[in-house]
Amino acid sequence: MLQTRVDSGLDGVIVADTVMSEVDGEEGRLVVRGHSIEDLVGVTGFEGVAALLWEGYGEGGGNEAAARDGMAAARVRAFALVPKLLIAAEGLTPVEGLRVGLGMLPDSDPVPHHYLVCGALPVFLAALLNARKGLSAIAPDPSLTTAQDLLRMIRGQRAGEVFEKGLDTYLATVADHGFNASTFTARVVASTHAGLISAVLAGLCALKGPLHGGAPGPVLDMLDEIGEASRAEAWFDDAFAKNTTLMGFGHRIYKVRDPRADVLKAAVARLPETAGRLSYASEVEQGAIAALRRHKPGRRLDTNVEYYTALLLEALEIPREAFTALFAVGRVAGWCAHVFEQERGGRIIRPQSNYVGARPS
Ligand code: ACO
Repeated sequence: MLQTRVDSGLDGVIVADTVMSEVDGEEGRLVVRGHSIEDLVGVTGFEGVAALLWEGYGEGGGNEAAARDGMAAARVRAFALVPKLLIAAEGLTPVEGLRVGLGMLPDSDPVPHHYLVCGALPVFLAALLNARKGLSAIAPDPSLTTAQDLLRMIRGQRAGEVFEKGLDTYLATVADHGFNASTFTARVVASTHAGLISAVLAGLCALKGPLHGGAPGPVLDMLDEIGEASRAEAWFDDAFAKNTTLMGFGHRIYKVRDPRADVLKAAVARLPETAGRLSYASEVEQGAIAALRRHKPGRRLDTNVEYYTALLLEALEIPREAFTALFAVGRVAGWCAHVFEQERGGRIIRPQSNYVGARPS
């Protein structure tokens, strides 16, 4: 017999305890293992956040240097798979290519699997992007951080500190975020004891959708279409008339502005020559919020992380088609942490459905 009936989308349902992160949707706060996201990314980067998330669980947990070395060695190891990947992923989008790449990692690999996936994703992504330009893959440099090395492998040379820091801030900011769709997916797979690689691959598949990690590319398309701030109001009214979802706005949990939007907006402002684009985007953002208030009164829809992600990744000269794949390079640290937590204490996740179909007569 069913004990609890929940709305579609599991809205408001608490399915587990976690020490990883807390999303306060009323106050607009994100806490990652005891630290506010604003404070955390002010003092550490991607490897530091990964080490924090893994503390008490996998190797490298609580030790930034170990996490950094483990991921760097795994990048070198993953590079050996690149020729095979490029054949298998020909003609695919970058995120589809990552799906193939993760699928190629064997469960039998002796490298700790959280290192393996964290090292493989940036190497695979850079190789896939270079292949799209007809260029050869560039080997990783294990002396660098993930952000430094990823930009170097994409550009063919070091990008410079300000750009590397910008990407590092992005990866650290998106590393974990409560029970979002991809993290929950990863935990469901982990709950069957399928292993970390399978759980992370499942997480990537959930992230790929435009309602989750696929929004920033369309945000830029929208900014391009609007063209100038004075056209925003008419553009948004037309969009609502056509029932268009505004990408980069709305969130299941946040009923106010997503705190990561401001962290990433500040990161864009630190990059050279972004003032004009930022001021245009800020005006369009205000127009979008006003339009949401007009057309969806009482719905409490505001800016989410993807709006300024789009601006930041554009300023870092990352091609639009790679945005979702790049999100995975950061979020993978959180997926691994949740897999550890699920494997340690969780039971198999197996809810019930209410059968409303035909019955035998
Ligand atoms: N633009 C226009 N209307 C919106 C938007 C939006 N961005 N978001 C929600 N609404 C409306 C819905 O149409 C709905 O209106 P209705 O009740 O009149 O039908 C109401 O607000 C409630 O929306 P739901 O879709 O039920 O909210 P839900 O919590 O299921 O969806 C989601 C959240 C998927 C993020 C949604 O807001 C959305 O599609 N946003 C745009 C895509 C996006 O930016 N995704 C990235 C999210 S952040 C992340 O995953 C990393």
